[in-house]
Amino acid sequence: MMIQEQEPQAEPEATRRDSDGTESSRANRGWWDRNADDYQIEHGTFLGDDRFVWCPEGLDEVEAGLLGSQESLKGRDVLEIGAGAAQCSRWLAAQGARPVALDLSHRQLQHALRIGEGRSTAFPLVQADAGALPFADGSFDLACSAYGAVPFVAEPVRVFREVRRVLRPGGRWVFSVTHPVRWAFPDEPGPEGLTAAASYFDRTPYVEQDERGRAVYVEHHRTLGDRVRDLVAGGFRLVDLVEPEWPAWNTQEWGGWSPLRGTLLPGTAIFVCERD
Ligand SMILES: C[S@@+](CC[C@H](N)C(=O)[O-])C[C@H]1O[C@@H](n2cnc3c(N)ncnc32)[C@H](O)[C@@H]1O
Repeated sequence: MMIQEQEPQAEPEATRRDSDGTESSRANRGWWDRNADDYQIEHGTFLGDDRFVWCPEGLDEVEAGLLGSQESLKGRDVLEIGAGAAQCSRWLAAQGARPVALDLSHRQLQHALRIGEGRSTAFPLVQADAGALPFADGSFDLACSAYGAVPFVAEPVRVFREVRRVLRPGGRWVFSVTHPVRWAFPDEPGPEGLTAAASYFDRTPYVEQDERGRAVYVEHHRTLGDRVRDLVAGGFRLVDLVEPEWPAWNTQEWGGWSPLRGTLLPGTAIFVCERD
């Protein structure tokens, strides 16, 4: 597959305003379709084609073991939500798991196809919204998401209920998101990103909109307490909350994530949950 050149776009306006589930889903699908090529060029090397990297801090599932031991993954049905180019699913398949990689964006899944070409580890790619999972009840043993879907949805409880529905009893759901504390700070990697400039308690979504006021990108903020309440409302038990520390080896910046901020502030929250 060729990487296509992007049409020049008028700069969208960044604002904070409400955005419902329908608008958020439409905006983010378009944004990821338009930006998937650039995203994979910029971050593909850091992510690796077949590694399971949870976050810009670089925490790898090989060391974290949040889904269970590597041996325990063999033969497990795993749903990856917001899979992007399915790097994590490729790693899961290499451990003997049976992953299904789901994403809202067709273009992201085309990158998954491109990377997977000629490899022996084939698995299904599914284009769908995390709020309406096209699977039968109890189809999976595990579900995971590395910054996929959850930060972008207006109704996280709906997603959690869907994940619970498609998991088998005892199933584990592990997902990473931007650490909620980060919302109080400018999304800048340098010193300007170290001074709180907004209320942590302001849940108004971050929206980029075009000249006609149509959202072209949306992120939704939940406080730490909101996330716990949403998970409980979705039918999960919280087993662990991992806040990866910035490791000395990682000298790379990823948007607003940087060694400078990473040594002072948490950048990622990883929720480890189970259903009864
Ligand atoms: C930051 S990327 C993470 C992908 C991959 N884990 C990685 O690290 O590159 C977020 C992904 O979530 C997907 N996404 C956003 N909203 C979604 C939704 N409502 N349902 C499913 N996927 C969604 C996007 O298309 C995008 O591929």
